[in-house]
Amino acid sequence: MKKTKTKYICSSCGYESIRWLGKCPECECWESFTEEIIEESKRSTKPFKGKIKVQKINEITANETDRITSGIIEFDRVLGGGLMPGSIVLIGGDPGIGKSTLAMQTTAKLTDKVLYVTGEESTKQIKIRSQRLNLNSDDFFVLAETNLSAVISAIKEISPAVVVIDSIQTMFREELDNSPGTVTQIRDCTSVLQGVAKKNNICVIIVGHVTKEGMIAGPKILEHIVDTVLYFEGNSNYSYRILRAQKNRYGNTNEIGIFEMKQTGLEQILNPSKIFLSNAENKTPGSVVTSTIEGTRPLLIEAQALITPSNFGYPQRVSTGFDQRRLSILLAVLEKHGNLKLASSNVFINMAGGVKIFEPAIDLAVCCSIASSLANKVVNNKTVVIGEIGLGGEVRSVGNFDKRISEAEKLGFETAIVPKGNLAETKSKKIKHIGVANIREALERVF
Ligand SMILES: Nc1ncnc2c1ncn2[C@@H]1O[C@H](COP(=O)(O)OP(=O)(O)OP(=O)(O)O)[C@@H](O)[C@H]1O
Ligand SMILES: [Mg+2]
Ligand SMILES: [Zn+2]
Repeated sequence: MKKTKTKYICSSCGYESIRWLGKCPECECWESFTEEIIEESKRSTKPFKGKIKVQKINEITANETDRITSGIIEFDRVLGGGLMPGSIVLIGGDPGIGKSTLAMQTTAKLTDKVLYVTGEESTKQIKIRSQRLNLNSDDFFVLAETNLSAVISAIKEISPAVVVIDSIQTMFREELDNSPGTVTQIRDCTSVLQGVAKKNNICVIIVGHVTKEGMIAGPKILEHIVDTVLYFEGNSNYSYRILRAQKNRYGNTNEIGIFEMKQTGLEQILNPSKIFLSNAENKTPGSVVTSTIEGTRPLLIEAQALITPSNFGYPQRVSTGFDQRRLSILLAVLEKHGNLKLASSNVFINMAGGVKIFEPAIDLAVCCSIASSLANKVVNNKTVVIGEIGLGGEVRSVGNFDKRISEAEKLGFETAIVPKGNLAETKSKKIKHIGVANIREALERVF
């Protein structure tokens, strides 16, 4: 009788252990370990019998135009110019965020053959979605299947240029004794698909669900197997969706794609600055507009702050769309160098429109929004505030300064509070620049 060996694997990062553990030592997840069967293979290397093909790099032909473009600019840009044949793209996201919709809309208009494998929905449900999205393609094939061998046969049969696997958690290989969705199955299915993609020069798009906070089941394992990892994010309160590259072997990871979810599907938003500004006519204390750079594009967003007295000993500090630790630093700088009394106030920070911004160039805007709410004074809604804050309260220069200013100019802003160090760079004549060297100066000039 064959003895089966089992191991415990963390379903969020793939850490292996021979005993069950309550907490993963690698990713610190609780109760993420599941028992999985491990196949033992003989580890000795046999001499290779096939033909080996080594080529000089100068003799290999390839060019960038080989990319398959979906025609959806927001999607192609995030990928670095389109889908790369022979590569695997992972689209991760929360349940119901619109992954299937994105995968369908971006592939259904291709002139190349597409095979859409669905393990979650029936072919009828796919048809209904395609009607709702108004997609009509003769070269779009649908297969409702979860057995990977069957999928591979289908790929051989119709030889598509793009294959969509929706979702990887439903796929399984018969050869393994583990059930679908386990780390072993997900990892194995993905590497088999990787082989198929490289061998046939097709692009495979894998859809994966995020299970725990910010994680696809087995994300670390998938992240290093696949070529590109895209996350489709959104906030359930907004219809906006943001596509972000987490890893990209064939492009920049800073680019984002912005969409709006409508009844007829995802609509790309080519001028996103407008949507992230709340009603510009509305003047309320605590709201300050800043110009941020996402990838290569400038984006105007509104930082909102609400400061309220705290009745308990320990005031609350909550931020949405802005780094919590960064907020603590800014609060300390405001106390020390800006003369603001915040120690017994609750501080709530929000980036309007549900965006998440990580770059420090929005520091000054966040500080001004806090000061504005605290003093209950309005910052002019035609003023844009740009600058990074140092621990000494100094306002530091930011990159891509001119791009930020031009975007603000395009949207009709009249004044810009900016780092003194950036003043020389501007080309805009329409916007009045106010250069500030430190936080105190900024707080004096902003109202
Ligand atoms: N009839 C409709 N009208 C408007 N929006 C719809 C309609 N049907 C679906 N949607 C939108 O599409 C979203 C679901 O899209 P989709 O099925 O592509 O998501 P998903 O990420 O693939 O979900 P799952 O995790 O269930 O596979 C819904 O949350 C909703 O916003
Ligand atoms: Mg889906
Ligand atoms: Zn782990």
